[in-house]
Amino acid sequence: MTNRYSFIGGSQGSWQVTDIRSTVGNGLDVVDRVNVVNAAITESPTNSMWVLQSFVSNVRYAKRNEITMLRAVQPSLNRSEAVVAVLIPIKKNAQWWDMAQDERRAIFEEQSHHTAVGMEYLPEVARQLHHCRDLGEPFDFLTWFEFAPEHTQAFEELLRRMRDTKEWDYVEREVEVWLHKAVEFKM
Ligand code: HEM
Repeated sequence: MTNRYSFIGGSQGSWQVTDIRSTVGNGLDVVDRVNVVNAAITESPTNSMWVLQSFVSNVRYAKRNEITMLRAVQPSLNRSEAVVAVLIPIKKNAQWWDMAQDERRAIFEEQSHHTAVGMEYLPEVARQLHHCRDLGEPFDFLTWFEFAPEHTQAFEELLRRMRDTKEWDYVEREVEVWLHKAVEFKM
């Protein structure tokens, strides 16, 4: 199985778009649905407005104890009750990428407590980090979250807390694509 993914914004796919909110920089064109495909797409499918490419990879910052704690509580994707998903593409600025890995880690965790804060919202929120900077894409990361509707407020609180941190001083583009799992009627 490939580690490549494509998020196709258009009229097809199992995720219905309920809202697209640009929080920093340019947003994304409004579409009806997002199709998440576990493959690299070379040509934009007809009726698609945008295609975001990514790959899943090994961890970069997490230390052994953090990996162990995460593994103990993090839920898997695609739980039946988790019908809300949020796709958040993020681009960080040149200053961030000019730093050394240890300097970035210090801002990410020791100053911003990204993992520690995020852990408070597990196991309700399932997550998957996708990388795309190395593909020459418009964003550096595609972050993906799934949860049951009753945890929407908690997730919005998490977003506010993350955006209040030093790490977010380096974010130059961020868009929220709010999704709801489409109900497929079978005859
Ligand atoms: C739900 C709770 C969350 C947890 C437990 C969590 C945990 C983590 C961890 C452990 C990493 C580091 C992965 C590595 O070592 O390479 C990471 C990276 C990242 N997370 Fe989160 N996260 C959460 C929520 C969020 C949210 C809500 C956002 C966006 C609004 C976000 C955006 C990112 C980004 C962009 C990265 C990559 C940072 C970089 O490499 O510069 N995370 N997250």
